[in-house]
Amino acid sequence: MDLFLNGGIVLTSLYGRHCLTLQDFTAEEIKAILDLAARLKEKQKKGEAHPLLAGKTLAMIFQKPSTRTRVSFEVGMWQLGGFALFLSSQELQMGRGEPIKDTAAVLSRYVDGIMIRTFDHKEVEELAAFASVPVINGLTDLLHPCQVLADLMTIEEKFGGLKGVKVAYLGDGNNVAHSLLIGCSKMGLDIAVATPEKYRPNAQIEEKARANALKSGSRIVITADPVEAVKNAQVIYTDVWASMGQEKEKQERKKLFSPYQVNSNLVEAAAPGAVVMHCLPAYRGEEIAAEVIDGERSIVLDQAENRLHAQKGLMALLMGK
Ligand code: CP
Ligand code: NVA
Repeated sequence: MDLFLNGGIVLTSLYGRHCLTLQDFTAEEIKAILDLAARLKEKQKKGEAHPLLAGKTLAMIFQKPSTRTRVSFEVGMWQLGGFALFLSSQELQMGRGEPIKDTAAVLSRYVDGIMIRTFDHKEVEELAAFASVPVINGLTDLLHPCQVLADLMTIEEKFGGLKGVKVAYLGDGNNVAHSLLIGCSKMGLDIAVATPEKYRPNAQIEEKARANALKSGSRIVITADPVEAVKNAQVIYTDVWASMGQEKEKQERKKLFSPYQVNSNLVEAAAPGAVVMHCLPAYRGEEIAAEVIDGERSIVLDQAENRLHAQKGLMALLMGK
């Protein structure tokens, strides 16, 4: 089937590749994923079949809970004419110590792609090193690239383009902040990240983002001041203060992060008409005020929906031919 890209030319450079981080993709490749995602969204809304992955199978390994990632990958594979298997790591031999490299090699004999959500990013790198099918990072402690593909798609829909849009991310310098830094700097969006000093983004990620920005023209600010970050921002973005695996730190983090709560005052300090994003799950009254996430500026449900479409674009380009 024609992947209807770039005026009909099929983009093949992504075929067979992994998606561990958006850093591995060029701006053109990310654009191709987003364009295909938009076309597939249109087709899905019109009820037109688009079986780009007919007969193909995706294995999904989860070492952490998930609502959006699991459902959007599973439904996405189904809509593309394929099938997805949910594999909880507890029920895999991996959970009893079977080496990742054996799991990777064996699954590669059965399926056409592997999605994994886990803690240590190195595990995903190892899985990819020993898999002969594309491996997709469904979130690690370090990165969440599929989330940011959906976020970029949502921003493009709202603003009609990506270049020059300013995103302010407030809260923890975590996996979502890291992938946003990479994604925005690749695609020419300006990004300001405000976190407490102790929770600044990873220095290597920052370095990569700054190098990307030199190419794309994106402007990057990393600060401890939430008001400075939201100044002129058209998008205000936040995420949980304690990520999966950090539950024990919740109380301590709550105190330190309270000045970074996305509430009406901070929204007022941003550009007029700024929209509010959150990757979800959200904790009202902590990182985001209820009146903001449930208010008219919030686009969190469009963002959540776009997980489905963006990942369909991604899977079709990595796993289809
Ligand atoms: N945003 C996100 O990845 O949600 P889940 O944890 O529900 O998959
Ligand atoms: N930073 C959050 C994102 C959840 C989608 C976490 O890792 O738990």
